[in-house]
Amino acid sequence: MRTQVGIIGAGPAGLILAQLLHLQGIDSVILERKSKDKIEGTVKAGILEQTTIDILREIGVGDRMDREGHFHNGNYFQFNGQRRHIDLKKYSGGKQVVVYPQHEVIIDLVNARYNNGKDIIFDVENVTLHDIDTENPKIRYCKNGMDEELVCDFIAGCDGYHGPSRQAIPESIRKEHLHMYKDGWLGILSDSAPAADELIYANHDQGFALLSTRTPILQRHYLQVDPHDDIANWSDDRIWTELTERTKTNDGWQVPDGPINSKGIIQMRSFICETMQYGRLFIAGDAAHTVPPTGAKGLNLAATDVKVMAKGITEYYRSGESDVLDRYSEICLRRVWKAERFSHFMTHLLHANSSYDSFQRGIQLTELDYYTSSEAGLRMIAENYVGLPIEWEKAENLKILK
Ligand code: FAD
Ligand code: DHB
Repeated sequence: MRTQVGIIGAGPAGLILAQLLHLQGIDSVILERKSKDKIEGTVKAGILEQTTIDILREIGVGDRMDREGHFHNGNYFQFNGQRRHIDLKKYSGGKQVVVYPQHEVIIDLVNARYNNGKDIIFDVENVTLHDIDTENPKIRYCKNGMDEELVCDFIAGCDGYHGPSRQAIPESIRKEHLHMYKDGWLGILSDSAPAADELIYANHDQGFALLSTRTPILQRHYLQVDPHDDIANWSDDRIWTELTERTKTNDGWQVPDGPINSKGIIQMRSFICETMQYGRLFIAGDAAHTVPPTGAKGLNLAATDVKVMAKGITEYYRSGESDVLDRYSEICLRRVWKAERFSHFMTHLLHANSSYDSFQRGIQLTELDYYTSSEAGLRMIAENYVGLPIEWEKAENLKILK
């Protein structure tokens, strides 16, 4: 089998890329390890930033998001029992975020793929990459017990943190930056009323809590926990006791509770792979970088990486021009490092740290006070939370504000 772009992974990165390429008349084949039901049913991200909203609309898959998503102009930061509003729209020049779950985005993208008359090859095994430093890179895989080979012009490694694509870049030219956090997040879905009109990020001595939402009757909340803790130690009562304590305000407000219908614990890490390209292989999304979830950046970064990749590939086929493709890694990593910085900043700003002395705790509370009350602080949070622009220019030509 032959295609122009062989895409490994049908997550947000792979599926958005396929649609961007299709709209430019470029053919692709998508190989996915899991089943269709599995990718359409896994609960992950909830917040899409303005840049992702724009990309989904541009590729014709924004209709259901526009109808069913909950658009927010701001969010709340809470500390010392006080809730402060961050007007994201005002401080970012009119941008917004939307609560629209990742699995709904996946459903919309899979439907778009089928509406294009194209397939996704699910349940593949033993995916390996070959000849990536030649003009005919190949992907070998196994489907229904048969060994198959896909010959491509380009390979897009969109296979998440644990996929094989990144490993195909020779170790000698791959520099990996890994930072582990000693905290994890316990996430729940509950049949309860929304906590507020917008998300609440709460800092508390007992640990961070995030009150998010899905629908008027289904809520998504998170608690900072030990990532090695066993979920069996967290009864529904214990979860609600912690969520209530960490998010109650001085004027007596308490989070609405209800039956919990799913719960799980995830570890937090920051990770960046430099470079994101080698020969005819380009990696994107979680395959190339991961962020702690506090800044809500993971899916959003995946979407902008593939926007850059699609532009580079399109220019290559249109005119033989390879400037964007040659600089793919440089263009993406500039923005990736900024999103990593913001996610790291948000994580430290909001999470409790048992090793802090009283001075460090005082500094953390002062930072919360500063960022939620100074115009400069609010602008910094807002412009990062709604998503920074892609900087296409060469770094040396970028305009520096004077
Ligand atoms: P993935 O979604 O991991 O997709 C990769 C795909 O490749 C998978 O389908 C996988 O099965 C497939 N694959 C892997 N190996 C192979 C193989 N060998 N062969 C074939 N296929 C393979 N991000 C946000 O932007 N906003 C948020 O609010 C947010 N909240 C989050 C909350 C939680 C609890 C979690 C866990 C994550 C959150 N994220 C958030 C992060 C976001 O979910 C990820 O960054 C996003 O899924 C990355 O997309 P991707 O396409 O790069 O990778
Ligand atoms: C959600 C996840 C996040 O990581 C975040 O920062 C905000 C919201 C969510 O799943 O709703």
